[in-house]
Amino acid sequence: MPLLTTPALRPGALARHPQPDLDAGDLRLRPWRPEDRPAVLAAYADPAIRRWHCRTMTDDEARDWIDSWPRRWHQETDASWAVTDHAGVLGQIGLRAVDLYEAEAAVSYWVLPTARGRRVAARALAALTAWSLDELGLHRLGLRHSTANTASCQVAQRAGFPLEGTNRSAARHADGWHDMHVHARLRTDT
Ligand SMILES: CC(C)(COP(=O)(O)OP(=O)(O)OC[C@H]1O[C@@H](n2cnc3c(N)ncnc32)[C@H](O)[C@@H]1OP(=O)(O)O)[C@@H](O)C(=O)NCCC(=O)NCCS
Repeated sequence: MPLLTTPALRPGALARHPQPDLDAGDLRLRPWRPEDRPAVLAAYADPAIRRWHCRTMTDDEARDWIDSWPRRWHQETDASWAVTDHAGVLGQIGLRAVDLYEAEAAVSYWVLPTARGRRVAARALAALTAWSLDELGLHRLGLRHSTANTASCQVAQRAGFPLEGTNRSAARHADGWHDMHVHARLRTDT
């Protein structure tokens, strides 16, 4: 049966360009490098990142995780940037579940414990949002977090992702089902 919609974005919208570096004031978002492995390991050794991202990571898995990003960019499914400053890696920000046909994606982020409390996540998210909506041309960026993750809710509000509602018992974490806040930013938002 013919579809009544056409693709909002064509295949290749992401993969035809190399993954760009993005500036966020004194922060720089850049593709992951092999030498970032200790930072990725440190991230997934942190109890809060383990809790909210629902995984641990070995040294080999950290290498594989870094190695996976060029392939995922090429497949146009996901993208991840290292959030850095002059001192090195501070965190991770990226797009998940990229759907070019519908021009939407979900955002993901974490910040290393040593870099928290400096608005790193919100500043990185603002830069990723500007690029995703204005350059890539996505229509909607979604952001979901457990209602128990109040720090993430602060990040969403600060980066201009208003709360749209709550999906009840919508994500399973190690301690069971969590209600999830749904935030989003649209290209048409001012
Ligand atoms: C959520 C997270 C990304 C916020 O990053 P950040 O750059 O530190 O964000 P902010 O500086 O804006 O701080 C946000 C909130 O974190 C809390 N916070 C501040 N300093 C903190 C610190 N040193 N340690 C832990 N939490 C801190 C505060 O509640 C703060 O809100 P407030 O400023 O209104 O009090 C980060 O805490 C993190 O990586 N957490 C674990 C992984 C995670 O939750 N990822 C998101 C899944 S949806």
